[in-house]
Amino acid sequence: MGTAELERVREEFLAALRSAGNDPDGVEAVRVRFAGRRSGLLRDLEERLKVLPKEEKPAFGKALNELKRFVGERLDAAQSAAAEAARVAEAFDVTLPGRRPETGSLHPVTLVRREVEEIFLRMGYSVADGPEVEDDWHNFEALNIPPDHPARDTQDTFYLEGGLLLRTHTSPVQVRSMESTKPPIRLIIPGRVYRRDSDLRHSPMFHQVEGLVVDEGITFANLKATLEAFVHVLFDPALAVRFRPSYFPFTEPSAEVDITCIFCRGKGCQVCSQSGWIEILGAGMVDPRVFRACGIDETRYTGFAFGCGLDRVAMLKYGIPDLRLLFSGDERMLRQFPAGVAR
Ligand code: DAH
Repeated sequence: MGTAELERVREEFLAALRSAGNDPDGVEAVRVRFAGRRSGLLRDLEERLKVLPKEEKPAFGKALNELKRFVGERLDAAQSAAAEAARVAEAFDVTLPGRRPETGSLHPVTLVRREVEEIFLRMGYSVADGPEVEDDWHNFEALNIPPDHPARDTQDTFYLEGGLLLRTHTSPVQVRSMESTKPPIRLIIPGRVYRRDSDLRHSPMFHQVEGLVVDEGITFANLKATLEAFVHVLFDPALAVRFRPSYFPFTEPSAEVDITCIFCRGKGCQVCSQSGWIEILGAGMVDPRVFRACGIDETRYTGFAFGCGLDRVAMLKYGIPDLRLLFSGDERMLRQFPAGVAR
């Protein structure tokens, strides 16, 4: 009866363990069969104990406890032996290919940001940054964006508690820079920006780089020459650059800047919607009202500013078809951009 059966289970267990040898999977199968929490044999025996007549319980219980301890110890030993055997086997298999440490790579947006920074650093600019959580003054008011301006719509802006918001562009850093420094100012400001937008071409978080130059005698010609030089180094010296009149509340006059479509060279293709041009920047002369808001003498100084979407530049430069690929965290995509590919 009872304890004899325990003896039989013990024999069975030892036989199973012997035939599992040093195979980790085999040992694991034995563990599940005998000591598995849900349906192991030892568990069944525990159930059996519960319904035994009272006088048989002590002997059976004691023997079962011993068996449990025995099984536990042997399993531990078998598991370590299997692990050790695997380690030794592996350590001595000289035919195994070496393990290469994985090298990280830079995100395409980082590559483009660094390249843009380098181009402007060479032109004598400094790199600045500012907070991503902004207040209404810096993101809108000081940039001549009045309270009823559509850009302020909660559909576009992530508003936070306490009158704060996630900056919708890098332009507020223009304001912060002008509030804290006297001209001459020559800055570029790369960073993350946020808008309530999400589809093939829009992500709620994306990247911009802002440019700001303020000094005496700065003209639209300076803006044009600067942006042409920038685009020629960034993409290709052979590209044509076109300025189209446009409107931004913080610049007057304002322009949108197009380059020859880098895919069809101006012939017209899907990427440029058959126009032969691709829009790449917004720009203009700093509006005197912005100077006034920032405490800069608008009778003495002029300046220009521009804003550019870095993600879009990365997509154009590397032929990435879907913006969402940039933020998917898919390593297969990232591995295609080893450090230095931008050079
Ligand atoms: N802030 C604009 C945007 O988010 C981009 C921009 C346009 C920035 C013209 C500028 C500028 O500095 O002059 O779309």
